[in-house]
Amino acid sequence: MNRGRFLTFDGGEGSGKTTQAHRLRERLDGAGIEAIVTREPGGTPRAEDIRKLLVSGEAGRWQPLTEALLHYAARTEHIALSIRPALERGVWVISDRFADSTMAYQGIAMDAGRDTVAAVAAAVLGDFAPDLTLVLDVDPETGVGRETREGGEDRYGSMGLEFHRKVRDGFREIAAAEPERCRLIDASGTVDAVGGLIWAATADRFGL
Ligand SMILES: Nc1ncnc2c1ncn2[C@@H]1O[C@H](COP(=O)(O)OP(=O)(O)OP(=O)(O)O)[C@@H](O)[C@H]1O
Ligand SMILES: [Mg+2]
Repeated sequence: MNRGRFLTFDGGEGSGKTTQAHRLRERLDGAGIEAIVTREPGGTPRAEDIRKLLVSGEAGRWQPLTEALLHYAARTEHIALSIRPALERGVWVISDRFADSTMAYQGIAMDAGRDTVAAVAAAVLGDFAPDLTLVLDVDPETGVGRETREGGEDRYGSMGLEFHRKVRDGFREIAAAEPERCRLIDASGTVDAVGGLIWAATADRFGL
């Protein structure tokens, strides 16, 4: 059986990642491709335990490097227990956030250090990488304004516009540095318009 493909959505708060991840799964299903949606931080029971440490509480509760390492601890569980087994079964995996978020948030917008985060990524991931990363790009004012998040998970949302502008710039830099893997998607349009751009990029990448 062919290995499944690994797709990731990344981008700032409220850029539409969760909405579009599920929509893409449905479109793949319509094309006869079995896919699952999973998320980070989280995606397995132990990784969801770690998620709680990251998405709730005071903005400044962690040293930036501690925070990057917690994301990588959760990611280690997620890859080993969910992502790799699904790919090996031939199922496509769509992850709502992945490693690029750690680089954009902790490596670039906070000061864990790009080189340090890149070194952790290399140690944990080796050559494991998404086949396609959809980077949803929208002005943070628009993204944060879309938020309908329930209470208790708003730690990153609480970090202020200046922080979210750095995150956006970080994602744009990552997408520009790896044009083979990443597609920068204008996420300012309607759900349908953004979904159309995502499907076009996915179909192009995989010849669907
Ligand atoms: N293109 C769009 N135009 C307007 N509203 C949108 C669009 N896409 C998503 N939304 C709405 O904006 C809110 C945030 O979308 P969504 O949860 O998909 O974003 P997200 O990137 O997953 O956010 P987070 O980073 O907070 O998880 C939701 O209420 C969603 O219905
Ligand atoms: Mg989301």
